[in-house]
Amino acid sequence: MKIGIIGGTGGMGKGFALRWSQNHDVIIGSRDATRASDSAVEYTNLAKEAFGEMKGTISGSDNVSVAKESDVLILSIPYENIDSVCSGVLPEIKDSCVVVSPIVPMTKTDVGFEFIPIKENKPFSYQLVLKHMKNKSKLVSAFHVISEKKLVNPTLELNYDIFVCGDDDESVQVVNGLINEIKGLRPIYLGPGELSYLSEISTPLLLNAMIRNKINNPGIKIV
Ligand SMILES: NC(=O)c1ccc[n+]([C@@H]2O[C@H](COP(=O)([O-])OP(=O)(O)OC[C@H]3O[C@@H](n4cnc5c(N)ncnc54)[C@H](OP(=O)(O)O)[C@@H]3O)[C@@H](O)[C@H]2O)c1
Repeated sequence: MKIGIIGGTGGMGKGFALRWSQNHDVIIGSRDATRASDSAVEYTNLAKEAFGEMKGTISGSDNVSVAKESDVLILSIPYENIDSVCSGVLPEIKDSCVVVSPIVPMTKTDVGFEFIPIKENKPFSYQLVLKHMKNKSKLVSAFHVISEKKLVNPTLELNYDIFVCGDDDESVQVVNGLINEIKGLRPIYLGPGELSYLSEISTPLLLNAMIRNKINNPGIKIV
């Protein structure tokens, strides 16, 4: 399976690439193809160092080329850039491509981390991305509550749940499979995409809990 990561040069992209290159061909996307290739070389070296042999590969290209090739496309970009990036890349994807949004609409204010849709009366991430999807059922929301620090650290033992929202069972199953491939993560389905705000708001919740209570490596686990 070819997994494309739009904005894959950021922290989350690095974590996803390190983890999934064990089994898949990962393509790092960037606005700048050279930056993408440089990151791909760096991540390949790190993956080999951390895990030894890789069954897959990590390569890099510009965001639009990555979108055209991918079977699964991760939108690893800031909330503020959803419209400008998605209007360029999502019209280019294959009909069968599953699109994943880990995007958290969050801002830091005097009181702590806050949820932009509530604070500023704006759409949540899933709603913004959905506007640009040809086949709307292929959009799945996931990975809001796992930090890049945990994904990029192969020696850190994970034991966390990942909330998943989406309308199409087949697409949700593809994402569940990718979550299960990361040791210590468990997918928890919350419901259709319109409930994605519940997952997206979990990130500021977790970060406020972490900072106010001095908790290292917080995560969510349903017991
Ligand atoms: N960091 C975490 O621990 C974490 C946890 C859960 C969810 N998330 C969510 O996952 C997503 C990615 O997180 P991240 O920390 O990796 O983000 P990031 O480092 O801030 O940005 C990721 C990439 O987005 C691209 N980008 C930045 N500004 C852009 C712009 N103006 N227009 C188009 N592309 C732009 C950049 O790639 P190029 O410059 O190479 O194009 C950048 O490397 C975010 O939506 C975040 O809310 C993050």
